[in-house]
Amino acid sequence: MQNKITQLFNIKYPIIQGGMIWVSGWKLASAVSNAGGLGLIGAGSMYPDVLREHIQKCKKATDKPFGVNVPMLYPDIEKIMDIIIEEDVKIVFTSAGNPKTWTSHLKEKGITVVHVVSSVKFALKSEAAGVDAVVCEGFEAGGHNGREETTTLTLIPMVKQEVKIPVISAGGIGSGRGMLAAMILGADGVQIGSRFAATIESSAHDNFKKTIVAVKDGGTQLTLKELAPVRLVKNKFYNEVQELYQTNPSIEDIKELLGRARAKKGMFEGDLEDGELEIGQIAGIINDIKSAKEVIEEIVTEYEEVKLSVANL
Ligand SMILES: Cc1cc2nc3c(=O)[nH]c(=O)nc-3n(C[C@H](O)[C@H](O)[C@H](O)COP(=O)(O)O)c2cc1C
Repeated sequence: MQNKITQLFNIKYPIIQGGMIWVSGWKLASAVSNAGGLGLIGAGSMYPDVLREHIQKCKKATDKPFGVNVPMLYPDIEKIMDIIIEEDVKIVFTSAGNPKTWTSHLKEKGITVVHVVSSVKFALKSEAAGVDAVVCEGFEAGGHNGREETTTLTLIPMVKQEVKIPVISAGGIGSGRGMLAAMILGADGVQIGSRFAATIESSAHDNFKKTIVAVKDGGTQLTLKELAPVRLVKNKFYNEVQELYQTNPSIEDIKELLGRARAKKGMFEGDLEDGELEIGQIAGIINDIKSAKEVIEEIVTEYEEVKLSVANL
């Protein structure tokens, strides 16, 4: 399965485990990298010292390439970037911000830089900023998302016809069939979040993992668009947000309801009622919790099988 993405990162399969707050620490990242994909530590929920510890543990747990995902909303971002450089991390995925802000600084240090986008406009901006590849994330994806609601099925071909750099598809991929579909649309690789959140090595709380398995189609919704659009499981907290919307709330009212640490409460501490539970639409095909290695093996096997069978279509 050698292509532009496996060559860019020096990995076996063009499968990237998306950085995920409260879910992707060193255990998940190293397990994915050891299985031939690219594991990413999600720095977005880590204090700088915690990130350093995760990087050091990841280096001990794998001799394969791995990276760090940095959402640019992060308040202490200078410290985070300094640690990444000091610890000699070779791959950084940035998201939720302007690709121009950090790309040249990281590239000067010899780091491979990828930026996550949800529109053609930002894919072009990322290319102009000098990134090595873009992740194009569609409306289906778990976590924070674009306001325009562009689906993966439409985003990939639209970006592909505009940019020359490699394109990684994200949002709604949880199987070999899904991966093949993305590659047929023009992607050079895939970034997967939700499927890896429901693995043994994910640091999500067991309650959250079981919820991912239980969620069916229609069980999630993109909401909180006034702050930062995010796809959530329709739990008690989500219903409270919807009730608030009926009252024509101000941004301040919404912020007050959201409060602090909702995501930690839900995904890390397992409070299924009052916590925020971020997951993608593809949760509907996730029926079990297994190891990251099994997930990758299953995806690769199905990808190869279906690829052969489509010749008969
Ligand atoms: C629980 C959760 C947390 C996430 N946190 C982040 C994050 O911190 N930074 C980021 O760039 N993307 C984040 N994402 C998005 C993933 O990296 C990935 O792009 C997305 O999950 C892909 O779509 P899928 O969920 O359909 O596989 C998160 C996704 C989930 C499910």
